[in-house]
Amino acid sequence: MNSGYENRRVLDQYLLFHYGTPEQILEGSTVFDGEEAKGLHFPEATVWSALLLDRYSENDQGALRALDVGCAVGRSSFELSRLCAEVIAVDYSQAFIEAAKQMQQGREMKVLRYDEGQLESEINLNCPEAVNPDRVQFELGDAMSLRDDLGEFDVVHAANLLCRLSEPTRFLNRLPALVKPGGQLVMATPCTWSEEFTPKENQPEGSTLDFLHIHLDDSFELQRKVELPFVIRDHARKFQISTSQTSVWVRK
Ligand SMILES: C[S@@+](CC[C@H](N)C(=O)[O-])C[C@H]1O[C@@H](n2cnc3c(N)ncnc32)[C@H](O)[C@@H]1O
Repeated sequence: MNSGYENRRVLDQYLLFHYGTPEQILEGSTVFDGEEAKGLHFPEATVWSALLLDRYSENDQGALRALDVGCAVGRSSFELSRLCAEVIAVDYSQAFIEAAKQMQQGREMKVLRYDEGQLESEINLNCPEAVNPDRVQFELGDAMSLRDDLGEFDVVHAANLLCRLSEPTRFLNRLPALVKPGGQLVMATPCTWSEEFTPKENQPEGSTLDFLHIHLDDSFELQRKVELPFVIRDHARKFQISTSQTSVWVRK
């Protein structure tokens, strides 16, 4: 399948983004004073700062099913496994899915962190403590044509995926069938629409939130909206700092 994600440096950059400690991600940097470092926990935040957790009791947790679409190397999927008995995690990058499975099996991975010029440092990343990796099933798939037999979920999580899709409405139109009544949809997007991924005619004409309302309101009610920062290391002196508009929708 696609793309730039298949190359090793991008893969290692994503593994660092998902599993690196703040010290591992920031080493060599002098630009951060702590505030921006909040964005270092994005794949956890889209689960724990977004989901309406008070809707679940401890009894529910043995039965909850989650779907993580565009899971990349899997950190949010592992976070969902703390709450849910079954997590199906889908991405269309073979390299990302293979890395997620490697983390699942070995619970640690070595990556090369890019520092500058031709300098890279080997660092060891660990699967977070107290997650339930065995509850996660990683698989290759396309958000715009997810397999028919996925069933229904208590949680559907799609972080920083929407504006990477060539036809985002194909994914949005599938969501009512995927989320159980009362279930939650977490849709995080930095709204970075680009013709590299989405032809102009398929991009929202107005705001991304209005676009979501147009496509989701018949079946979902918007319950929460937060801006979640994320920080991705390019090298020791260069970081991408963004925020992702994270909306949480409950299935009617
Ligand atoms: C910007 S990354 C975000 C990854 C992760 N959810 C996060 O928040 O860090 C976008 C991810 O979506 C995946 N992706 C892009 N188009 C996809 C599609 N059509 N179906 C499934 N995954 C897709 C990419 O391979 C990549 O892993």
